[in-house]
Amino acid sequence: MTSIPLIRKLSDGYFHSGSELGEFLGVSRAAVWKQIQKLETDYGVKCDSVKGKGYQIRGGLDLLNEEIIHLALSHKAQTLLSNLDVHTVVDSTNDIALEKAKQGVESGYVCIAEKQNKGRGRRGRTWVSPFGKNIYMSILWRFQGGAAALEGLSLATGVAVAGALSKVGVNGVNLKWPNDILHERRKLAGILLEMSGDAAGVCEVVLGVGLNIGMLRDEGETIDQSWIDLQSLREKKLDRNLVVATLLNELLLMLEEFSLRGFVPFMDEWSRLDSYRGKEVTLTTSKSSEHGIAMGVDQNGALKLKIDEKVKVFSGGEVSLRLKR
Ligand code: BTN
Repeated sequence: MTSIPLIRKLSDGYFHSGSELGEFLGVSRAAVWKQIQKLETDYGVKCDSVKGKGYQIRGGLDLLNEEIIHLALSHKAQTLLSNLDVHTVVDSTNDIALEKAKQGVESGYVCIAEKQNKGRGRRGRTWVSPFGKNIYMSILWRFQGGAAALEGLSLATGVAVAGALSKVGVNGVNLKWPNDILHERRKLAGILLEMSGDAAGVCEVVLGVGLNIGMLRDEGETIDQSWIDLQSLREKKLDRNLVVATLLNELLLMLEEFSLRGFVPFMDEWSRLDSYRGKEVTLTTSKSSEHGIAMGVDQNGALKLKIDEKVKVFSGGEVSLRLKR
């Protein structure tokens, strides 16, 4: 039996007795206990069990809800969204959207999940994806003009995510080339673009966004860089479904605009949010390390570095940028 009804019941954060849960699920109290244990082993969802009171998910869970997301979408986003799939547990939402691309599903397909078992980050990293805490979202979009038409797309995505965050009341968000979303140098969200199709013709892009919403310190202890979550930046409780809808409102519009006009309309905003401009940095590629002063980006979204008084441009690939100490 799936544990989802049990998670939903306990998501209110209140205590529920074993007999109440047994009645609700139509199983014995012993079977309830087994299911409670499975919540932790299968989903990483911890339940408190107190004699005389029953079971509780402390703090409750703000579960994803397709209907609430749809209702909070702007009219424009609704016209650009072709389908929204809300999953409980997947390996990676990007995998699902890439599979949909293979099946010929149209642009505007969106997939989100409560948990990813094999969440992917850039540079072969794992994207830590605990149940019900963050946002894991992938959008499929088709572009004409092959891979060249996609230059700057990951930067434009960063601009759209930062715009959504400011709309939900989180300010002080910055961008780090090519597409990290930071708050005071701590990572708040990451973007992973994956492509399939014809590199010279119609290209399918899956745009994956991972946004930390309410991840606990111990859940993120394996993350090897400094990170922060959205809820820690706000006093008022965030509504996860509203954040999903706000992200979609910005991202779907950005995708439409980008397919018509490329990166240029997003360039000024990217520069305004650029957290490394004018700083001494080291740019590391698989082949070399370059030291220089970050000078922002050009109209293709490539990084400009001043090295020995000359400006050199670096684009694409797997590049990391570190502040020189
Ligand atoms: C990064 O390394 O900064 C990129 C992280 C991207 C994570 C998101 S979560 C949704 C989508 N599915 C994945 O497996 N990865 C992306």
